[in-house]
Amino acid sequence: MTENVVEVSGLVKHYPPDVKAVDGIDFSIPKGMIFSLLGPNGAGKTTAVEILEGLRSPTSGTARVFGVDVTKDYDQIRGRVGILPQNFEPFDMLRPAEAIEYWAKLYDMSVNRKDIDAIIDRVGLSNRKSSLSKKLSGGEKRKLGIALSIVNQPELLFLDEPTTGLDPKARRDLWKLIEEIREKGTTVLLTTHYLDEAEQLSDDVAIMLKGKIVARGTPSELIAKYGKMTVVVLAGAGKEGLYEVSRRGITATEEEGDVLVPVSSPAEMRVVLAKLASIELKVTDMYTRKQTLEDVFLNVVGTKMDEGVLAK
Ligand SMILES: Nc1ncnc2c1ncn2[C@@H]1O[C@H](COP(=O)(O)OP(=O)(O)OP(=O)(O)O)[C@@H](O)[C@H]1O
Ligand SMILES: [Mg+2]
Repeated sequence: MTENVVEVSGLVKHYPPDVKAVDGIDFSIPKGMIFSLLGPNGAGKTTAVEILEGLRSPTSGTARVFGVDVTKDYDQIRGRVGILPQNFEPFDMLRPAEAIEYWAKLYDMSVNRKDIDAIIDRVGLSNRKSSLSKKLSGGEKRKLGIALSIVNQPELLFLDEPTTGLDPKARRDLWKLIEEIREKGTTVLLTTHYLDEAEQLSDDVAIMLKGKIVARGTPSELIAKYGKMTVVVLAGAGKEGLYEVSRRGITATEEEGDVLVPVSSPAEMRVVLAKLASIELKVTDMYTRKQTLEDVFLNVVGTKMDEGVLAK
């Protein structure tokens, strides 16, 4: 039987008078999985995560971690959990090595110089280990936060937007680190606004909108369910291109100057390409690409907003 490390059922968090930050969500995370909570700003991701971290009490519903009700007995599991808060700020006057040592003490652990260097190296902060935290850049502070979240070798790791502010290379290095951590058996709950990150890392994804989960599945399940098969990209076609394409009955959208035509089957592709061939379009490039989790996110969030199904 699969052991669920996290179990959330009927979870609600209302802030009076009328904010339904979390509005009845259910999910579970089996041991060793990377689970991502996605959703636009204010969807309720951090609130849900902070309830699981024992930091906020829910209005109703249950939240269990390692089988323990976190609203009652969080202390029983504190040592097994690692946390990177969304708004993490290190203590200004501690250097990374000192911060790690201090953090370890909070967990009643002792770490030697070699352990500290290993953690600093894992998060890519070796060249800044002697700097005061207040002198670290935004991305370096984030890396220090990640280092602190793994000091106690947690069995469950909460990472609330771990790569916000990191440069592209640092983001990819962190993906590798998260994968390594998972390979050692740690379960990870991640929130992110980077859809490529969620697609790359997650075993399972839930998209939240206005406190509710509106889509749930593996990245490939979601792409199969909500994405069309392929997108024809008319690069640089712009608004004029969109007008020309639309008036020939082709469904398309415009994004940052490119016209995107989603196509769901080879038969539809033949029809679309034949129509496009007959239009004089000014393009800088034309190519096809598979749909990504980002397309799914935009489809699902856009459609649900349009439907107003979530309106109060
Ligand atoms: N202490 C609070 N009191 C009142 N409202 C709050 C409080 N904390 C959060 N909220 C509101 O609850 C909603 C959900 O916030 P939350 O921080 O969980 O969203 P999020 O999905 O993490 O957003 P983001 O992607 O911007 O981090 C928002 O409308 C927010 O303004
Ligand atoms: Mg948040």
